[in-house]
Amino acid sequence: TGLFTYDSGFTATASCRSAITYIDGDNGVLMYRGYPIEQLAEHSSFLEVAYLLMNGELPGKDDFATFEHEVTHHTMMHEAFRTFLFGFRHDAHPMAMLVGMLGSMASFYHNTLDLEDAEQRRMAAIRLIAKVPTIAAACHRYSIGWPSRYPKNNLEYVTRFLHMMKEVPSEPLELNPVAAKALDLLFILHADHEQNASTSTVRLVGSTGANPYACVAAGVAALWGPAHGGANEAVLKMLEEIGRPDNVQSAVDKAKDKNSGFRLMGFGHRVYKNFDPRAKIIREMCHKVLNELGVNDPLLEVAMKLEEAALKDDYFVQRKLYPNVDFYSGIIYKALGIPTEMFTVMFAIARTAGWVAHWLEQQNDPEAKIGRPRQIYTGYDARDYASIDKR
Ligand code: CMC
Repeated sequence: TGLFTYDSGFTATASCRSAITYIDGDNGVLMYRGYPIEQLAEHSSFLEVAYLLMNGELPGKDDFATFEHEVTHHTMMHEAFRTFLFGFRHDAHPMAMLVGMLGSMASFYHNTLDLEDAEQRRMAAIRLIAKVPTIAAACHRYSIGWPSRYPKNNLEYVTRFLHMMKEVPSEPLELNPVAAKALDLLFILHADHEQNASTSTVRLVGSTGANPYACVAAGVAALWGPAHGGANEAVLKMLEEIGRPDNVQSAVDKAKDKNSGFRLMGFGHRVYKNFDPRAKIIREMCHKVLNELGVNDPLLEVAMKLEEAALKDDYFVQRKLYPNVDFYSGIIYKALGIPTEMFTVMFAIARTAGWVAHWLEQQNDPEAKIGRPRQIYTGYDARDYASIDKR
């Protein structure tokens, strides 16, 4: 018993008011600032979406040019900050490195950042959007023993990232436009998703008045888990383990067995109980991208069989479990040559746009208070301390 409403996992608690993203889970609707995700996916670009999320409106030509210029001119890492990388073990997970690197960014910009100043807050958001891809690519290259590449600022956001990722420094620059378009689209679809676990984490940390780089580092940590962003990496590992379409049914059966401890990765969602509109777009795109890149990945067939088997199984139907955004994204990342352990980092690059938009909104919200949930206490009543020889 207790004085507070028990709401494990906050399934029925609105923690804030927000004008950024709207989700209707029953009807599979997702909108950023009122624009349906399908329209943004078809016509917009990730950087334009980042502007929209932060500022509330799509930019005019001049506004966009200024924004792109600002982002482009904050892509470099401070040399001393880059040396932090060398403290990591060569085989550290890139998400662990990303958390650490972003946390260390707080040490670079803490004393110079006045959180009362709206322009300084805006610049912090821009620095994050600009630098996260540079840091992410550097983490990958460090893990394979290659020197990091400087961001080439005559390239666009996504191609610049792909250029930094490419493994061989001496290779001529051949960036596939199909790959860049696919990655841009994946970034749009992952850019925001209202009060998911990582965004709520950014807001909770932000509610204390902490430095925004520390807030986003906390968001990355929350994203890492397999129930959240870590699912895209887990999906690919699962598909590889299943290996062949013949093995699909036994995987479905195992996922239904609660004692197995195994869930179908990339299936189910806290909010979407009909379908995930992002999954629908990604599924179509997956076929198209693999075709255009001339990639024949047997895992796509395994994924399609798995989806088909689950969608006609009572267990999944009754619980309204559908493929989510992470189900097909890994197959696309793989086709683009992104290593599996970088998948969740890719999610983090895109979600940075949402995290900073929420942080900015919160800093401007006169109703925002420190996030401080209560609990239902289930421990002992008062009892007397006994000295150690009497226990
Ligand atoms: N495979 C098998 N059973 C499942 C699955 C699954 N993937 N997801 C949910 N269930 C079952 C669960 O066991 C429970 O059954 P019962 O009612 O008999 O106890 C029921 O469905 C409801 O599940 P829940 O865990 O209470 O639902 P939730 O809203 O707390 O969790 C979820 C949502 C996404 C964490 C969960 O569906 C899951 O673990 N999915 C697999 C991981 C995944 O794909 N995560 C990515 C989410 S989307 C992108 C993102 O957020 O990053």
